[in-house]
Order: sequence, then C-alpha cells, then structure tokens
Amino acid sequence: MVPMRELVRGLLKDVNVPVIASGGIMDGKDIAEVLALGAAAAQLGTAFLPCPESGAPPAYKQALLAARTDTTVITRAYSGRPARGLRNGFIGAAKEDWILPFRQQNDLTRPMRNEAGKQGKPDYISLWAGRGVTRAREMPAAKLVETLVAEIGGR
Ligand SMILES: Cc1cc2nc3c(=O)[nH]c(=O)nc-3n(C[C@H](O)[C@H](O)[C@H](O)COP(=O)(O)O)c2cc1C
Repeated sequence: MVPMRELVRGLLKDVNVPVIASGGIMDGKDIAEVLALGAAAAQLGTAFLPCPESGAPPAYKQALLAARTDTTVITRAYSGRPARGLRNGFIGAAKEDWILPFRQQNDLTRPMRNEAGKQGKPDYISLWAGRGVTRAREMPAAKLVETLVAEIGGR
C-alpha cells in the first residue's frame, strides 16, 4: 500500500539491482518522473488495456474509459489474494469471511468472470485497474507508444 514513487525511492536506496517502476503510470510525464527518480524502466498495465490489441472484454474497456474518479479498491473477492480493481457490484457484495483462499476463490469465480465478459456485465467482471485509470486513453498500442515517447520528450 506504499505509494509507487515512495516505494521506488525506498527500493533504490536498499537494493543494488535495476528497479522497474509500476503502478499508476499512465503517460510520458509519469515515465519521465520515475526515470528521473532512478528507475531503470517503467511498466504500464492499465494504460494499454483499452487498446484494440488488448483482449479485455468490451465491457471492461468501457468501464475503464468511463472512470471519471478513482474508484479502485483492493479486493480479495475475485482471487483470494489482494489486487486493485474498479469497485463494482460483486466486490460490493463480497463478505470478507466468505472469501476462500487463493486458488479456490480464483477457480470459483473464473466461470462467472468469463461469462460476464461475454455477456457484457461489468458488475461480475474483475475490472483490474491502477489508480491512474481516469487517465486511460483509447488508441492503438503503437500509437500509444509513440504518444508516450513524445510525452517523455528529449529522450
Ligand atoms: C489485466 C490485469 C490483471 C491483473 N491481475 C492481477 C493479479 O492477478 N494480482 C494482483 O495483485 N494484481 C493484479 N492486477 C493489478 C495490478 O497488480 C496493479 O494494481 C495495477 O494494474 C497497477 O498498475 P497499472 O496502473 O500500470 O495498471 C492486474 C492488473 C491488470 C491490468
């Protein structure tokens, strides 16, 4: 739960291996910032999910692009392990003491998640997303990479 920039700074002080910054990185300005902190690289997840090349179900992509505020929460509801995603109906209904350990919970919810993706029911999809979700942009992956490089600027 340590904010990403703080975590990167702390790790760089304590380890002697390249550090890859990850979590909430959405644009070239974010990338330039973490590289300036000393990270060897930046890793982007959510930023690429709305791309046409991504296999995320359309309802998942729509939920990401519709996010106007950061409604992400950490939940064990889908897999039994904590992960960050957009809060939805299933997460809201889940009761901590009903949640099975990881893999059992993951195996239990998989058919629901897959079917919800097919049926376009975002309340039952695991809408994994980082805290930068409000800045998700829809464009082809190559165009997004070009845009990120241009935003980093001077590299
Ligand atoms: C498709 C996808 C799958 C994910 N699966 C997991 C997972 O299995 N376990 C987990 O802890 N977090 C998972 N996450 C959440 C990431 O750990 C992380 O919180 C988030 O994506 C932050 O990085 P980002 O802002 O670059 O996306 C997943 C994220 C995405 C986009």
